[in-house]
Amino acid sequence: MAEVIDGKSVAEDVVRTVKALTAELVAKGNAKPGLAVVIVGEDPASQVYVASKSRTAKECGFHSLQHTLPAETSQEALLKIIADLNADPAINGILVQLPLPAHIDAGKIIQAIAPQKDVDGFHFINVGKLGTGELDTAFVPCTPAGSMLLIERVRGKDLSGLNAVVVGRSNIVGKPMANLLLAANCTVTIAHSRTKELPALARTADILVAAVGRPEMIKGDWVKPGATVIDVGINRIPAPEKGEGKSRLVGDVAYAEAAKQAGAITPVPGGVGPMTIAMLMANTLASAYLAAG
Ligand code: GUN
Repeated sequence: MAEVIDGKSVAEDVVRTVKALTAELVAKGNAKPGLAVVIVGEDPASQVYVASKSRTAKECGFHSLQHTLPAETSQEALLKIIADLNADPAINGILVQLPLPAHIDAGKIIQAIAPQKDVDGFHFINVGKLGTGELDTAFVPCTPAGSMLLIERVRGKDLSGLNAVVVGRSNIVGKPMANLLLAANCTVTIAHSRTKELPALARTADILVAAVGRPEMIKGDWVKPGATVIDVGINRIPAPEKGEGKSRLVGDVAYAEAAKQAGAITPVPGGVGPMTIAMLMANTLASAYLAAG
């Protein structure tokens, strides 16, 4: 059976380190790192994520600011809030929770965030730095950055020559994940909904990252024996066995089957999920360091 990768515990390590480094930074007379989280509308999953981001920021000793805006907020009003946060020296990181309501152009909002405060790593400048291997000064998107940390925990830092297959090509996970693996000298394939013979391709992977948003799509016999399986999916599915109207969380990987094949695998929940928030804290701290000079 596979080693279960305990993302919750690794995330707690990261948060502990961020907290200690924050205390050090503040003890030297610098301002607290400041994180602003903006949410528009009432999507329940987004509300849970955002509350968790704000809570962890406080736990790290950050100045934590949350803008909770009604779904009918105009694009102009949101752009004004971002301009104010860009200009606010107490704020080092700005995160606008996605998805945004349909009347707002998410791309325009992301590009309005100052690149040096773009702790999500979604701005073209940061995307470009990651794509060109300028990892020292790029903000890397939190979910792929956290996934890399988990991969390094089980495989060590040298991933050179390993075959990596990333299933999913989103800007938030799939593409940056592929770039990180490429920067680590893996041979990388990005697969997606039009990929032919996906099971056979997945079986070539020493590192298999699932980020498609389809519950339990990746079956046990798609996993090469001994592979490292990183399941980014968080899908809520009905669970009538738990009672009427009940649901449960599953990943994009059929966990029980895949765990029989894999060398190591992330569970859902408790795998990649907690890493996303931890890496957001790490990015915000890094931004505060840069601002402190
Ligand atoms: N929605 C889902 N994941 C993310 C993320 O990493 N950042 C933001 N801003 N929104 C998200």
